[in-house]
Amino acid sequence: MARRNELFAAAKKAMAASRAPFSKLKVGAALKTRNGKIYTGCNIEAASFGLTICAERVAVFSAIASGARKFAEIAIVSTAEEPITPCGACRQVLWELCGEMKVSVYNLKGECRSFRLAQLLPFPFEKF
Ligand code: THU
Repeated sequence: MARRNELFAAAKKAMAASRAPFSKLKVGAALKTRNGKIYTGCNIEAASFGLTICAERVAVFSAIASGARKFAEIAIVSTAEEPITPCGACRQVLWELCGEMKVSVYNLKGECRSFRLAQLLPFPFEKF
C-alpha cells in the first residue's frame, strides 16, 4: 500500500513533465487505486487554450485506460504558493470515474489540505 507521502512524491514527480508554457503553472496528480497502484498525470497546455488538459484528468484517464476502476485517493501538487483544488470540470470527471474518495492538495513545501470529493462537488450531475 502506498503511504500518503509516497502519493505526494508521485504527484511531484509527475509535475516535472508538465507542459505549461502559457500559464506557467505546473501541476502534477497521482491517483491511488484501492489496491495501492498509482497512476499519474501532469497538465498539458495547447496554444488553442481550450484544448489544454488538467493533471487530474490525465491521471484518471491513464488509470481507466489501464483497467483500474476502484480508487482511494488523489494527490495534487502545483507550483502555486497555496495548494490548489481541482477545477469544476475535473471534479465532475473524478466523481463520475472514481466516485467518493479522498482529495489531498499540496504545495511544493508539502503543506496539505484534504477533502472528500463529495465535499468539493455537492449536488453532482449523475444522470446516467
Ligand atoms: N490545472 C490543472 O492541471 N489542474 C487544476 O486543478 C487546475 C488547473 C492546469 C490547467 C492549466 O494548464 C493551468 O493549470 C492553469 O489553469
